[in-house]
Amino acid sequence: MTKTTTTIFATTFEEDTYKGLTASPKYLLSKYIYDEKGDKLFQDIMHMPEYYLTNCEYAIFKKYTAEIATIFSGEEQGFDLIELGAGDGKKTKILLKHLIELEQNFTYIPIDISQNAIDGLVKNLSKEFPELKVEGEKGEYFEVLENLKTYKSRKKVVLVLGSNIGNLLHPKAIEFLTKLNQSLHKQDLLFIGFDQKKHPQTILNAYNDTTGITEAFNKNHLARINKELGGNFNLNAFIHWEVYDPESGTAKSYLVATEDQEVKIIKLNLHIKFAQWETIHTEISQKYDDTIVKWLANEAGLAIETAFSDEKNYYKNYIFSKKQK
Ligand code: AVJ
Repeated sequence: MTKTTTTIFATTFEEDTYKGLTASPKYLLSKYIYDEKGDKLFQDIMHMPEYYLTNCEYAIFKKYTAEIATIFSGEEQGFDLIELGAGDGKKTKILLKHLIELEQNFTYIPIDISQNAIDGLVKNLSKEFPELKVEGEKGEYFEVLENLKTYKSRKKVVLVLGSNIGNLLHPKAIEFLTKLNQSLHKQDLLFIGFDQKKHPQTILNAYNDTTGITEAFNKNHLARINKELGGNFNLNAFIHWEVYDPESGTAKSYLVATEDQEVKIIKLNLHIKFAQWETIHTEISQKYDDTIVKWLANEAGLAIETAFSDEKNYYKNYIFSKKQK
């Protein structure tokens, strides 16, 4: 008789953690960093002087509010403004305020992987803008994209801010953009932020702050495994390490084991050995230029309508529409 062992996972977090930590080289998926503590640490990152991305995108929203609002609105039936990965909505608020002042007919639909972030945002928005129509949703990008297809018949504008797309390597980004495209109608728009290539040191500094916030953020992944999956990672036996390859434009985060160790994860029934200096790859943060964005758009059947950048050209928001055949 053949004995078959099937491991059944209760959640994708369990399954993905198992897969990543039994792979060689080891990896973890960055989307799992964002529990309540991870959300908070990312908030702190956005306030760091080194993390220029947030300030640049904020400056773009401030400077071009009127232009952006004009491009989004104008449809007689109004429009739905859908934000994937809304977080705290700090940048979007500038636009929301302006659209409300113009008495535009629109509904804001923030979507985030973190229920905690969505709840906080909806509560905060209802207080700040009582007249705003807002419908928060919790979900993962690809999951939510399916639902997007079924969204009302009126114009929709989909926002993907913060260079969140940078967590995806190009083939995945093309898949993501293609799926987004499939949910669009002729008049619909995508508004997506892409962090640009720049001095490599500036990029490294953004992911390697001296105060240790990014380190704590990265290590929160291990803390979450400890908390939710019954792990016993010693967070002090790993260091945060960042590399940036100016050729590919890919920044990569690692956790590096500083000593030989064995980690137990009770819920996964797993013992994992780490040799000294062994790595766990935890995140990629891709950087772009116009050529790459044009290529990605083209591969996904999208056309670039226009783009806005900050004064230093550190960061760019592109507006895409469905390529007309
Ligand atoms: C939220 C994915 C855009 O990659 O810049 C910040 C996350 N990681 N510092 C990024 C992050 C480390 C961030 N994104």
